[in-house]
Amino acid sequence: MSIVEIKNVTKIYEGKVSHRALNAVHFSINKGEFACIMGPSGSGKTTLLNVIATIDEPTSGEIMINGQNPHILNKKEKALFRRHELGFVFQHFNLLDSLTVEENIVLPLTLDGASVKEMEIKLSAVTEKLGIEHILKNRTYEISGGQMQRTAIARAIIHQPSLILADEPTGNLDSKASKDVMETMAAIHTQASTSILMVTHDAVAASYCDRVIFIKDGSFYNEIYKGENRQAFFQKILDMLSLLGGDQTDLSTIRL
Ligand SMILES: Nc1ncnc2c1ncn2[C@@H]1O[C@H](COP(=O)(O)OP(=O)(O)OP(=O)(O)O)[C@@H](O)[C@H]1O
Ligand SMILES: [Mg+2]
Repeated sequence: MSIVEIKNVTKIYEGKVSHRALNAVHFSINKGEFACIMGPSGSGKTTLLNVIATIDEPTSGEIMINGQNPHILNKKEKALFRRHELGFVFQHFNLLDSLTVEENIVLPLTLDGASVKEMEIKLSAVTEKLGIEHILKNRTYEISGGQMQRTAIARAIIHQPSLILADEPTGNLDSKASKDVMETMAAIHTQASTSILMVTHDAVAASYCDRVIFIKDGSFYNEIYKGENRQAFFQKILDMLSLLGGDQTDLSTIRL
């Protein structure tokens, strides 16, 4: 059973010069899978995530999420769909610095008018899982980058979405914080069988996934699955990245 089906999706950005950012991309993600997308800078990764997230529309092709096509919904229904079915984690954390950590985390529930009781129960469950109980009253500028990202992950999972979308979640973290964040994501995936689709440049981060899908120039290029061993998978990812080419940043961010 698929959580995401991407059927021949093409995205053309119209402008003075129109640009084909995605070219007939076709693949699916299974329910409960932790999948990762890699590819050179400009290859269309964020574009792909944005059309899956319904933040942007595909030019042609179809996207199904949990058996539904969110792109046929009206604006209001789409916003609800996003809030209920999806959880987002971004490189720049996207936390509101006028709110405390706790207020940021419960935001999706607040928007849905959940009861205080329900918020308390869910808040304590996710913050315990992420080890951030002690910073709940802090403002976001009073915590570390790793803690910010764990706060963002807590917010992304508190409403138990069917799919978590993450764009470079370790992009602004040092290697220790990256490792913590990836171990947290992997644990959430294992414990709750949450489906996760993550974009990353970081081969170490990618090695936590079940499968890496490589895209190049807006097209599907290749995919590899993790076997028993994460270290061997990491090596295969590096080999594929060097085959793929691309700019220096693809290799400069690699951490061991
Ligand atoms: N809003 C836009 N309008 C026009 N062109 C765009 C727009 N957004 C992205 N592009 C172009 O589409 C291509 C794919 O961009 P995208 O952001 O998806 O790449 P990416 O793989 O996420 O790159 P990076 O690794 O640098 O984040 C790029 O050539 C980019 O310049
Ligand atoms: Mg991007």
